[in-house]
Amino acid sequence: MLKPIIVVGSINLDLVARVERIPTLGETLTGTSFQTFFGGKGANQAVGVARLGHAVSMIGRVGDDEFGRRLRQGLKGAGVRATAVKRTPGVSSGVALISVASRGPNAIIVIPGANATLAPQDLENELPSFASAGMVLTQLEVPLSVITFLADITSSNHIPLILDPAPARRLPASLLRKVTWLTPNETETCALCGVAPGALNPQSAARYAARLLEKGPQNVVIKLGARGAFWATADGATTFVPAFRVRAVDSTAAGDAFNAGLAVALMNGKSPPGAVRFASAVAALSVTRIGAQPSMPAAKEVAKFLASRSRRGRDRINEQHPPLNPAGV
Ligand code: RIB
Repeated sequence: MLKPIIVVGSINLDLVARVERIPTLGETLTGTSFQTFFGGKGANQAVGVARLGHAVSMIGRVGDDEFGRRLRQGLKGAGVRATAVKRTPGVSSGVALISVASRGPNAIIVIPGANATLAPQDLENELPSFASAGMVLTQLEVPLSVITFLADITSSNHIPLILDPAPARRLPASLLRKVTWLTPNETETCALCGVAPGALNPQSAARYAARLLEKGPQNVVIKLGARGAFWATADGATTFVPAFRVRAVDSTAAGDAFNAGLAVALMNGKSPPGAVRFASAVAALSVTRIGAQPSMPAAKEVAKFLASRSRRGRDRINEQHPPLNPAGV
């Protein structure tokens, strides 16, 4: 039996407004619908892993409120072990205000609430679980002190750590050196490299991946959204995996779906390029559905999707993609 995955991260209730396009500064728009979904980058990744059939437990914090009760119940209902999801008295649960435009792009404001009260002590209390973990996933919606302590635990126990550096921010080299897989999107890559947003494209991905690798992680996967994903490793191997072409309705949590897929594929012994392809399929399926956690596909759906795409031969986006210049110049 494969070792379980542990996710350390945020748990939010997503308040989602659908609107024709994302409003500009100072603009008021009339939306088309409002819904709530279980979200939070950590919880989304944990639910993504559970849907793919892998044993997973979550370490996080919710508020001592009705949202917190629902969020914890939602995790359990999805098959995530939630005994290490604790309530923080007197604090509200994390909430995300999300605008989703009609073709899928979104804008998110997160109010951390109880997520900001997660502490290194919460990890200390779970040390026996880490001893039997096969992989650990985390993101940046909980305090950095927790992430750095987590990286100390995983590196000293030789447990692979996947860090999704989201939301975007600069990170200390001492942390990045302990990361096995760093999986930034375009904005996060620019923030980590200290360059203006928009500097990245598929042609320059190799250059930025090399800059990230210099900071110490063993592998980098730059998530380029609808264009694909670029994997590079410290020993010089690289692969560009074009995105699967799908009809997107909501890109919320696509990055979380990708990371869940990457973790499960690696745990099942797939090669890094094979794992990135599997992760891309999980993310592609997630954007065809509305909401964060409800969009996470089951293992059977991913298998069917990949089989249908293999039968069709190369995905069309593959053929349309400009050739990648490995030097990125
Ligand atoms: O990655 C998507 C998630 O970001 C949403 O579910 C929201 O809660 C924010 O954490």
